[in-house]
Amino acid sequence: MQEKPVKMAGRTALITGGSKRLGREIALTLAGRGMNIVLHYHTSATDSALLAQRISRIGVKVYTVPGDLADLSRTDELMNRAIKAAGKIDVLINNAAVYRTDQFSDLLPEDLETSLRVNALSPLLLARTFAARAGGDNIINLLDCRIRDYNSGRVSYSLSKKLLSYLTEMMAVEFAPQIRVNGVAPGIILPEPGKGDEYIERLKLSNPLEKWGSVDDITRTVLFLLESDFITGQVIFVDGGRSLKRGVNG
Ligand SMILES: NC(=O)c1ccc[n+]([C@@H]2O[C@H](COP(=O)([O-])OP(=O)(O)OC[C@H]3O[C@@H](n4cnc5c(N)ncnc54)[C@H](OP(=O)(O)O)[C@@H]3O)[C@@H](O)[C@H]2O)c1
Repeated sequence: MQEKPVKMAGRTALITGGSKRLGREIALTLAGRGMNIVLHYHTSATDSALLAQRISRIGVKVYTVPGDLADLSRTDELMNRAIKAAGKIDVLINNAAVYRTDQFSDLLPEDLETSLRVNALSPLLLARTFAARAGGDNIINLLDCRIRDYNSGRVSYSLSKKLLSYLTEMMAVEFAPQIRVNGVAPGIILPEPGKGDEYIERLKLSNPLEKWGSVDDITRTVLFLLESDFITGQVIFVDGGRSLKRGVNG
């Protein structure tokens, strides 16, 4: 018998760092499929409020929850607020991240700690509370295609994403059979804030496919993973082949 894809409409997704950039596009895509959205934000209160207005015009329910994910003593509270607002959270998308520039020689322990807290430990704690209390069945962690490299110019970021990649597999085992856990590892998709398309135009030649990806490449992958109920513990690299060129570079 043919399995039907998991139904999306009427379910609820919590998206961390969901007000801007990739998180925003994921939120709009899931809302477009009829999912209710809980938008987490840290500093982007205005963007979050504006996006919530736009999502509510789509005709689904939308809630916003603030929180600093570097403060690990507050992750429980964040998830509880989301559950209280929405009633049930079916999907957790760990999207928020800090993207520091730092090198091995001058890496400060406190900077490493911040990257680990926001990019790996808060996803772990949110996922544990989600598994214990939210009643949901799906977690997606946003990774980075360079989890296979030694990215010598972004040491704390790299370490945190490598850790989240391992955690993705651990969570998939620990939370099965109730919850599926997968990762999406983007390559060059959006330029860093403050940098334009000319920046990624230069970078694209580092990809075997010699082009950069679009936000649609990421949202399509998220949808695929949400709808595929026999996939868990996997990472999909959406990177034009960049991860095949393992190496050391900044
Ligand atoms: N963009 C790309 O091309 C690309 C490539 C590879 C991997 N990725 C991964 O894909 C995900 C999304 O990428 P992006 O470029 O859209 O991300 P981003 O703009 O760098 O960050 C997303 C959000 O993370 C939130 N955040 C940062 N520090 C936080 C903290 N201490 N507490 C709570 N939230 C915090 C911010 O929320 P506020 O604005 O509310 O403060 C921010 O808007 C990230 O995990 C990133 O590592 C992206």
